[in-house]
Amino acid sequence: MQKKLVRKLDLEMALSQTKPHLTPSPSLEQYTIPAETAATMLYIAAYSYQNIVGKRVLDLGCGTGRLALGAALLGAKEVVGVDIDKEAVKMAAVNAAKLGAENVQWVAADIDAITGRFDTVLQNPPFGVQKRGADQRFLERALQLGTMVYSLHKSTCCDPKVFEALKKRKDETIPVQPSPFLEAFIEAHGGRIGAVYAMAMTVPHMFTFHSKKKHEFLADLYIIYKAKQ
Ligand SMILES: C[S@@+](CC[C@H](N)C(=O)[O-])C[C@H]1O[C@@H](n2cnc3c(N)ncnc32)[C@H](O)[C@@H]1O
Repeated sequence: MQKKLVRKLDLEMALSQTKPHLTPSPSLEQYTIPAETAATMLYIAAYSYQNIVGKRVLDLGCGTGRLALGAALLGAKEVVGVDIDKEAVKMAAVNAAKLGAENVQWVAADIDAITGRFDTVLQNPPFGVQKRGADQRFLERALQLGTMVYSLHKSTCCDPKVFEALKKRKDETIPVQPSPFLEAFIEAHGGRIGAVYAMAMTVPHMFTFHSKKKHEFLADLYIIYKAKQ
């Protein structure tokens, strides 16, 4: 097992040193998760639910690797990161070497190519803005592969006060209700929602169709148990 990073700030600082994708594709929604969002998600999984340390972890749609790397740095037993884009996976491997994360296996493939069972699936999937239903495909696959699933989705919580409060404190979360649509989808695929937390996310201007310097929005972290078969 790797040395456990205990302080959340240390994890956030390590993840903020990862190199970004050099040529991200809008159609694959290749936004990198902000380091503070990744650290918050990983800390909840590791220390509120005990689903990282010593566990077999899968990062579906790993991109440049922040979630997989964070899991490895927190002490996961074994980590697999998979992404359909070879360039993203190459950069993830560069980032792993930079951070000294040894126990991560990187796979350049579609999420459907992954087999086996994992204790924990972490994912920041395409939200389905470019390709409708992309996030649902990831959810379905995550529930086939994992016992616990931590999945980020575009928030359906539209309370401006919640948004303003979270924008000021990027490392905080607020419990919210699940989207009825996602709740039904998750249950239909054998999952049960344990909690949903809203958090503020900021992505920088990346693509030509972005009109603002940065885009701030709310994302919901779904914590899902795979129901026993
Ligand atoms: C929103 S990005 C998140 C990247 C990374 N997990 C992060 O949080 O920084 C979604 C990722 O899913 C990948 N992806 C999209 N469709 C995929 C598929 N069918 N199979 C595997 N990866 C896919 C994209 O290439 C992209 O890197």
